Amino acid sequence: MSKVTVVGAGNVGATCVNVLLFNEVADQIVMLDVKEGIAEGKALDMLQTATLLGYDSTIVGCTNDYAQTANSDVVVITSGLPRKPGMTREELIGVNAGIVKSVVENLLKYSPNAIVVIVSNPMDTMTYLALKATGIAKNKLIGMGGTLDSARFKCYLAKALNANPNEVEGLVIGGHGDTTMIPLTRFASYKGRPVADILDKATLDKVVADTMVGGATLTGLLGTSAWYAPGAASAYLVESIIHDQKKIIPCCAFLEGEYGQSDICIGVPTVIGKNGIEEIIDYKLNAEEKALFDKSAAAVRATNDILKEIKAL
Ligand code: LAC
Repeated sequence: MSKVTVVGAGNVGATCVNVLLFNEVADQIVMLDVKEGIAEGKALDMLQTATLLGYDSTIVGCTNDYAQTANSDVVVITSGLPRKPGMTREELIGVNAGIVKSVVENLLKYSPNAIVVIVSNPMDTMTYLALKATGIAKNKLIGMGGTLDSARFKCYLAKALNANPNEVEGLVIGGHGDTTMIPLTRFASYKGRPVADILDKATLDKVVADTMVGGATLTGLLGTSAWYAPGAASAYLVESIIHDQKKIIPCCAFLEGEYGQSDICIGVPTVIGKNGIEEIIDYKLNAEEKALFDKSAAAVRATNDILKEIKAL
């Protein structure tokens, strides 16, 4: 019997639940929100699609009733405010830190063994906050950012290559910020061919630039943060955990010396299975990539420092 809780029944949380249902990832799903009725309403709406879509998972919605989340195998935290056009993810820290901290504490009270997936922004800092506030084992805490950023990278690569996105490989590491993420073009490939052998430098540079502002572009178009790809990326992670798929997924992980960094949660390639982050894979960065990673880590650290200033830690 597998159980997944998604906190936040907003656009991202509800999309994540919807994808989990379509793909029958878990036997039981609980969706929790602070706003009276919203999770119940969306859960009932989704339940009514069971005979149309042919899935067997059960879905329950509740308002702040953490007892219903008890004994979850995986919990996904999407709570907090989304970005408005022109806003950076980092600007959300003041509001979202308090929310994420209390949500993760409440969840672990009822599901002490759960693997925790953090989606709320600024994602790297919220992941670090969750670790420091709860003392959760580092393998059990996963920040979602790189999963989404890599999907966007592959999308833009596929467009430039005029290729099937499923035949394109690409990883984005570093922070989940407009200026901190690092699409690793040297490791990107199309059916095993390095993309740098196929695309000219200007095209590849544009793919990288578009990927880095992938979220901001959508915020500009939609007036709020994106949700289809963020929700699907969260569900993709949950599926790799619940089904022990051991997929290599770039995720925000707590580092203790890997990639030359310590005491930070930041995006690196990881193996995701039933124990959460089962391995951090060393892709042997070159000097230029290493310099970008160090710069990204410094920016994430600067945002982490705000946690102390606002007394969230
Ligand atoms: C994005 C938000 C969810 O990148 O961080 O769309």
